[in-house]
Amino acid sequence: MKTILITGGAGFIGSHVVRLFVNKYPDYKIVNLDKLTYAGNLANLRDIENAPNYIFEKKDICDFDAIKTLFDKYNFDGVIHLAAESHVDRSIKDPFTFARTNIMGTLSLLQAAKEAWKDNTDGKLFYHISTDEVYGSLENGGFFVETTSYDPRSPYSASKASSDHFVRAYHNTYGLPIIVSNCSNNYGPYQFPEKLIPLFINNIRNNKPLPVYGKGENIRDWLYVVDHARAIDLIYHKGKNGETYNIGGFNEWRNIDLIKVMIKVTDKLLGRAEGESEKLITYVSDRAGHDLRYAIDSTKLHKELGWEPSLQFEEGIEKTVHWYLDNQEWLDQVTSGEYQKYYENMYKIKS
Ligand code: NAD
Ligand code: TYD
Repeated sequence: MKTILITGGAGFIGSHVVRLFVNKYPDYKIVNLDKLTYAGNLANLRDIENAPNYIFEKKDICDFDAIKTLFDKYNFDGVIHLAAESHVDRSIKDPFTFARTNIMGTLSLLQAAKEAWKDNTDGKLFYHISTDEVYGSLENGGFFVETTSYDPRSPYSASKASSDHFVRAYHNTYGLPIIVSNCSNNYGPYQFPEKLIPLFINNIRNNKPLPVYGKGENIRDWLYVVDHARAIDLIYHKGKNGETYNIGGFNEWRNIDLIKVMIKVTDKLLGRAEGESEKLITYVSDRAGHDLRYAIDSTKLHKELGWEPSLQFEEGIEKTVHWYLDNQEWLDQVTSGEYQKYYENMYKIKS
């Protein structure tokens, strides 16, 4: 019997991690702590919300007193920390919120864990979920490995890099048991439609312009979200204290090529002629400081812990398009209200 705190469990990746742990480990108690920002949505967890081993706590990770109280209340064995501000475009407009949540929020969790576990760290683990974006941009080929120097270039990646440094500092200075993993871009169900893949599927469905930044030549390395959740489960249980693991599926795509695949799959499922929605592609001004290429080498995770992705990209993207088309109610709910203002504001500036 373990009690695990999962932060950010109402968000995209967090909801998949919570679902996996709640279903796979009926003898664990899973406490999902989430502030429910615009990106947090309890509808992402409808299927498990009544499970006897699941508890939701609406809290802000920056509220140190509230976090300390939770550690006293539940006596956590482990923390899997996903709560964060996660969208690069928003970080360009509002870096302060990113520094507050991603840096100060992580610090507040680290300090609470350190205090709660001060007498005995046996069996305890603070597992921090991070991104490949901390390594910077690969302009001249190659891959990010665990020892690649940090070179964050956006306010988002700078805040995540800073939080990673704090996690390692707590290990080195206070002996807190920690693991950090850095994953490539995720895609799949329940991703907030401000990110490329769900935004474009939704726009294709609604015959709205597809705003491609710059020339569409930037490259991202895509992993199906359930495979990230599987990696997190494996690393939490089998990873070594103090280690870093890169997670990715060796699946690089130029944005424009990926967009054409999405159009093909979505048009097919909507019964449109092949390529009909390519007319929606609209080149807009580039993102400031737009990183050219991310590509992660996850050999260590494969060799040491035996992880590999379960899905080929073609299958993953088809499942994903299917899911968004089948879950229009979810999409309509998250794209109403505040979302409209965000969208108009963001894309008025870019086009
Ligand atoms: P998301 O934006 O979908 O979800 C973030 C969640 O954190 C939301 O539920 C939100 O309500 C919650 N949250 C935000 N601020 C909070 C606060 N102050 N207190 C408590 N909860 C708060 O993000 P995601 O895409 O699911 O990413 C989860 C984690 O994985 C992040 O740490 C991100 O940096 C990392 N990551 C994401 C990707 C990706 O492709 N999405 C890739 C690698 C790593
Ligand atoms: P995104 O999903 O925001 O992830 P990240 O910036 O963290 O990699 O963007 C993925 C890629 O798609 C990135 O190169 C920016 C590009 N992009 C567009 O061209 N248009 C858009 O409207 C968005 C949101 C992203």
